[in-house]
Amino acid sequence: MTWFTASRAPPEPHLPPGWRVMEFDSLDSTNAALKRIVEQEGDVQEGLMVWANTQTAGRGRAGRVWQSPRGNVYVSILIAAPESLAQAPELGFVAAVAVRETILELPRHNAGAPKVSCKWPNDILIEGEKVCGILPELTTDDQKRSWIVLGIGINLKTVALDRAAYPPTALSVHQIDTSPAHVLTVLTRSLFKWLQIWREQGFAAIRQQWCDCGPDLGANIAVGLPEGAVSGEFIGLDEDGALLLETRKGRRRIVVGDVLFPGSETGPATGENPDAAGD
Ligand code: BTN
Repeated sequence: MTWFTASRAPPEPHLPPGWRVMEFDSLDSTNAALKRIVEQEGDVQEGLMVWANTQTAGRGRAGRVWQSPRGNVYVSILIAAPESLAQAPELGFVAAVAVRETILELPRHNAGAPKVSCKWPNDILIEGEKVCGILPELTTDDQKRSWIVLGIGINLKTVALDRAAYPPTALSVHQIDTSPAHVLTVLTRSLFKWLQIWREQGFAAIRQQWCDCGPDLGANIAVGLPEGAVSGEFIGLDEDGALLLETRKGRRRIVVGDVLFPGSETGPATGENPDAAGD
């Protein structure tokens, strides 16, 4: 195990003040490891990160597996939960906005910028394919303080997967040739900034930013729900981040679900594809 601190940092990653990273070669899951640290060791601070080169039991949303070959970013970041836990899901949108900004800031070999967009609730797409998944999980320390373990997986190398619920891509496919440590430097800077904006200006500022790079208003969207897929026109995000759709049966407010790949509406809904990775 290696500890890097902001004051005694090697060339990379450079971290925001007070943030520190515990680096591992291989872990079951960085989310699981950071939760263990919070629950068993207590005395933790915002910005504590667990970073691994590979995971043997990477976790995705809705109980899915997140395949974790070497070369990609697997990190979990500890963030103090908002006073009202009802606002905790907002952090996933904060992270999505920060990851998108990070990708756009990374140096590219080609001139044109790729289209980097947000997919509800917390995924990042490049040219319509998934490059990043985010898994926020709540936990509590021994002093009963609530924390969010913010898990972020970013594909840097090509990810070849047969059965992903959403087609995956990687930064390298889009001429972005970088290292996990450099991504972590840019990502933590961006996340630090957007966390401050969220706390000072509220979720409205984040929602605006997310909507600017989310689906077009009026776009047809299908969402996988336990009872089956629902589709309709995207009419925005509600004040708490819920997805608003205008369906043939009227307006739907969706709090939990997965936006499906266009044309795959008849495919598996959430949680039915345990082998899927990259989604
Ligand atoms: C998703 O299903 O889209 C979320 C995937 C989140 C994967 C990341 S990788 C780092 C962290 N550790 C985990 O076990 N999962 C998250």
